[in-house]
Amino acid sequence: MTFDVRRIRAAYPALADGYAYLDGAAGTQVPAAVIGAIRGAYEAGLSNGDGAFPASARADAITAACREAIADLVGGEPAGVVLGPNMTTLTYRIAAALAKTWQPGDEVIVSRLDHDANIRPWIHAAERAGAVVRWAEVDAATGELAAEQYAGLIRGRTRLVAVTAASNVIGTKPDVPAITAMTRAAGALSYVDGVHATPHGPVDIRALGADFYATSAYKWSGPHIGAVIASQELLGSLRPDKLVPSPDFVPDRFELGTPPFADLAGASAAVDHLAALDDAASGTRRQRVVASMAAAEAHEQRLFAVMVDALDGMRHVTTYGKAAARTATAFFTVAGHSPRQVAEHLASRRINVWNGHNYAWEVTGVLGIRDSGSAVRAGLVHYNDESDVARLIDAVAELG
Ligand SMILES: Cc1ncc(COP(=O)(O)O)c(C=O)c1O
Repeated sequence: MTFDVRRIRAAYPALADGYAYLDGAAGTQVPAAVIGAIRGAYEAGLSNGDGAFPASARADAITAACREAIADLVGGEPAGVVLGPNMTTLTYRIAAALAKTWQPGDEVIVSRLDHDANIRPWIHAAERAGAVVRWAEVDAATGELAAEQYAGLIRGRTRLVAVTAASNVIGTKPDVPAITAMTRAAGALSYVDGVHATPHGPVDIRALGADFYATSAYKWSGPHIGAVIASQELLGSLRPDKLVPSPDFVPDRFELGTPPFADLAGASAAVDHLAALDDAASGTRRQRVVASMAAAEAHEQRLFAVMVDALDGMRHVTTYGKAAARTATAFFTVAGHSPRQVAEHLASRRINVWNGHNYAWEVTGVLGIRDSGSAVRAGLVHYNDESDVARLIDAVAELG
């Protein structure tokens, strides 16, 4: 494993501006190769898909390549990759399609750990179908979402379990394989939100046991597109609302309107970038992605240990969440300063962090901080380095 953060940082033009980008959990910067792929797609001549001429064939090839790239990223099959504008839109779309198969009295399980994008679409779909919503709870002290509670939640009428692979604020990585195993045993489907998890380590949707896995390219160095990955067979069993003349085969029938072809080219380039994070990685792109994301995870976790130790050691700082397995995402408050004031102070030191609930509406409620501006989120991704962490620590210490 060879992880050269200096080489990796040099791939990102935006990182030259002198800011510490600790806002990756809200969206990462993009490497030059991604920008180049988007520009290249337009420069080559890019038309709408399914036409008789080369510029149209290029659009189709870009789409096919993007499905392959995202399948490689998560261990899925290209024919099961549904592309769309973002995870939220896709989740509403899948929820609406699934809800057509639900009966009044069926049950849907959501968790308080999740981003609202993996909660509200299911609640709205359940309301329309007359289905019952049941909640998995988070332990406020530890930030854990105990998998065992699902044994009591999942019942004969359970049709869907929606759960996150990682919290976008406190980083908790629940035991998704245990939850999906119980889900499957009850004949229900699982919808796993991988938006926060995907950038922080290798993903294998089969090992996760996810029937659906959602991810957003802009969280892993790509452009603003989202994807939901499922099996071709499962997608084929669903009938989403669609226009009469649009394709009726999968995955295309889940995709509404004309896609952002150039951005899809950028998403493929982002996967290639991720596959090359570990200089020593070899083999297929899938193998290189897995090795590289493991190297990225080790790098992030090493920096995170330093960051969290320092924050925990400051008397004026309260950190939230200490799950046994979590991403390199810190969520904290500073005594005497609102989260916004802390973010403004850090911005004055050229450090980007996010403040607020970050749409983690339920969990910030459970933590009792939602109404007071929630907290500050400082998240690491593979391009952050020691100096980003040291600058954050120094700047937060100044507030003591
Ligand atoms: C864990 C998680 N789920 C879902 C979303 C929503 O993703 P999108 O912006 O692609 O709709 C986000 C965005 O921050 C997220 O962090």
